[in-house]
Amino acid sequence: MGLGRRQDGLAPTPPMGWNSWNRFQTRIDERMVRETAEALIESGMRDAGYRYVVIDDGWEAPERNADGDLEPDPERFPSGIAALADHVHRLGLRFGIYTDAGTKTCAGYVGSLGHELRDARRFAAWGVDYLKVDWCHTEGLEGRTQYEMWSRALQEAGRPMLLSICEWGRSRPWEWAQTVGHLWRTCWDIQDTWPSLIGVIDHQRGLAPHGGPDGWNDPDMLEVGNGGMTIDEYRAHFSLWCVLAAPLIAGNDLRAMGDEVREILTAPEVIAIDQDPAGRQGDLVRAERSMEVWARDLADGSKAAVLFNRSLRQEDVALRWSDLGWAPGARVRVRDLWARADVGTLSEGLTAVVPAHGARMYRLMPEAH
Ligand code: GLA
Repeated sequence: MGLGRRQDGLAPTPPMGWNSWNRFQTRIDERMVRETAEALIESGMRDAGYRYVVIDDGWEAPERNADGDLEPDPERFPSGIAALADHVHRLGLRFGIYTDAGTKTCAGYVGSLGHELRDARRFAAWGVDYLKVDWCHTEGLEGRTQYEMWSRALQEAGRPMLLSICEWGRSRPWEWAQTVGHLWRTCWDIQDTWPSLIGVIDHQRGLAPHGGPDGWNDPDMLEVGNGGMTIDEYRAHFSLWCVLAAPLIAGNDLRAMGDEVREILTAPEVIAIDQDPAGRQGDLVRAERSMEVWARDLADGSKAAVLFNRSLRQEDVALRWSDLGWAPGARVRVRDLWARADVGTLSEGLTAVVPAHGARMYRLMPEAH
């Protein structure tokens, strides 16, 4: 596609992990981060592929120290960030942190503007593996210029780190960020409500050609398990993120997670779609009233399809082979990815009952002629 890729190999498939913001906002401390890292393991999420434990806004002390360096809040992070990163690393996980490209963070903590290299070095010295750089208080600045500066600063700091670009799609980062960061937000913040989820999904159409290995479109972190939506809505949310090849950054309290939520976040065959090695993002292929079909190509020649019902009633939703670019009559092996069950070999498409505000998800492999 002519766009230079970063191709440093740090994010061959969409990054997976956990971030503190969606559930906790700035109510974070080192104990809960440790407990969350442990819960990632006990819940089976590490084994399902989740690696990065990321602390978002709210970790900092109110001022830089006498040397001009960022410091953590001494009461909430008394052992310091290096010790916390070590602890996370010893559990076989990676550690991420947050700063802001402007003068202050979105929650009003110290920003990094004018201190990019100093802060990048500090993060590297602490053992940071993933850096999210936010975009509040950046009046007069240009996104591409500032994030390019961050990319160079991280390179100079010398520790391999994912760069998560968080300027909410303002300067169309999908058009320039492939050589700058490993993921970039495509729109404004998600919230734990159905209308917010719909708003985010409607912003993702047409972005598929821009995402791929080492440079992913990021529709924002997951709200699965935060309590504002139904289990069917969360299953739809997760299905769509996987067909979109989105980063899977859980945002719930992993220490107090019920089985239904854990089963969504660890669904092996659904995650396998997100993590497909070809890294080809899916897109909307057909919309009819409140029914949508989203699909993506997979490395083995099969395709994944999500049948998405936006209405408040259960509906029969049809998947036609023409939605997937296949001739009517083609013989296709179909697997239901949530049920983890074979549906059979079909030749005339399929029709599924899709719950209200819900989704079904399939993997489809055409038979060799
Ligand atoms: C912005 C970002 C969020 C989160 C908050 C923190 O709104 O988009 O993801 O990092 O700031 O204040």
